[in-house]
Amino acid sequence: MQWLQQKASEWSGVKQSDAFAIDETNLFEKLGLQTFINLSTDFYNRVYDDEEEWFRSIFANSKKEDAIRNQYEFFAQRMGGPPLFSQRRGHPALIGRHRPFPVTHQAAERWLSHMQLALDSVTDIDTDSKTKMMNFFRHIASFCVLMNEIIGQQDLCYGQSKMSKSSTTLGRIHWGHIVGGDQRVDFRTVKTVHI
Ligand code: HEM
Repeated sequence: MQWLQQKASEWSGVKQSDAFAIDETNLFEKLGLQTFINLSTDFYNRVYDDEEEWFRSIFANSKKEDAIRNQYEFFAQRMGGPPLFSQRRGHPALIGRHRPFPVTHQAAERWLSHMQLALDSVTDIDTDSKTKMMNFFRHIASFCVLMNEIIGQQDLCYGQSKMSKSSTTLGRIHWGHIVGGDQRVDFRTVKTVHI
């Protein structure tokens, strides 16, 4: 999904090498599970207390405790720890899991600002780890927005060849697929195949 990754880097302003610098250090070993629990708890306290109803409502169907656990288990797993998330929830499949939600640029900005405040509030997270995590979050957030925009076209475009705003910026939409460069994303499975 190279062209999608490139687009996400463009939108987030984070180079791919910086986005995945989380893999250079084992942040789970460095920070410990409790730090991830504290981070996700602080983050979701901010989200559920957000003064903006439009943002709070995105999370309205999730119980806060579940959202906290889902998130810290994913973070711990992705940052070098045991596969807590996958053992309980299966493949992370973040694109598919975010599909029911309106992950817009505006929502991503708000998500990221809560996360920055949470990272700054939790003690024990050194500056280097914070930078690495924020770069990763920025990149993934942009990726989710990008996929939200592409998949948002599905109902309009699936089963017919129809050009749309996205088709000019992201690729060609054709018979339920978006085609860009030498790659094709199948809307139904959100899997990328080389063509
Ligand atoms: C860009 C803005 C984002 C929005 C609006 C958003 C929204 C949501 C919502 C509403 C949920 C459901 C809560 C739950 O029941 O767990 C969720 C789940 C989740 N999100 Fe996000 N999210 C965003 C960005 C991110 C990013 C950047 C990451 C990872 C770096 C992420 C990782 C997750 C994970 C791991 C789950 C749990 C999925 C599950 O267990 O089903 N999200 N998100």
